[in-house]
Amino acid sequence: MEARLRGLRAELEADACIVNGENLADGVGITPRLADRVLAAGADVITLGNHAFRRAEIAPYLESSERVIRPANTSALSPGRGMTVVHVENGTRVAAINVLGSLFLHPATSMFEVIDELVEEARRETPIVVVDVHAEATSEKIALGRWLDGKVTAVVGTHTHVQTADARVLPLGTAFITDAGMSGPHDSVIGVEVELALRRMRTGLPVRFATAQGDVRIEGVVVTCDAETGRATSIEPVRILVS
Ligand SMILES: [Fe+2]
Repeated sequence: MEARLRGLRAELEADACIVNGENLADGVGITPRLADRVLAAGADVITLGNHAFRRAEIAPYLESSERVIRPANTSALSPGRGMTVVHVENGTRVAAINVLGSLFLHPATSMFEVIDELVEEARRETPIVVVDVHAEATSEKIALGRWLDGKVTAVVGTHTHVQTADARVLPLGTAFITDAGMSGPHDSVIGVEVELALRRMRTGLPVRFATAQGDVRIEGVVVTCDAETGRATSIEPVRILVS
């Protein structure tokens, strides 16, 4: 990310950049230092997911950060926020919202219970609203996309790490993809050294995972929208070979 993100932003003419960073710290969680490095590398906002609080030192950082958000439907007592609005390079404002799906991920409340209020709050500030739906089930992600169609600029899925082939603008103008993919080593089992993942899965024994090294790619999507209405006009998947 540090080597390529700035150049990629220029190349893709991206006015804003949102990165899901919940696997930055050796695959699980994020630390203040890593968050600062990704923001310095060119991200405007970092979203998180089911591993948001894995590293204890991130809690006070989340309390004060306006650029690193965690899922909005974690416990009401957990640190941080699930929505933010930031000024981006071309002078517009972009809102980012992060929510967690229910299957396997055990949020405190359903994302559907919190999303309407968050979208309303975001839209009071700016018409450009991007939702990171961090979820295991394709159905939950598509359902949220359809629920928010016409109400937000984009609904982008994360967590499953494999870029899906369904990027499209939904009928009422919301860009959608079930999973944006993984920026990381693709010669792996979703980021983990193949041999270690296989050993744990085959034997059921506890195996300490390590991040793989090969076939590093940056994956994501580029969403184009009308700055006045927030409506998306296109969504294109991005897959860049880094090393
Ligand atoms: Fe996740």
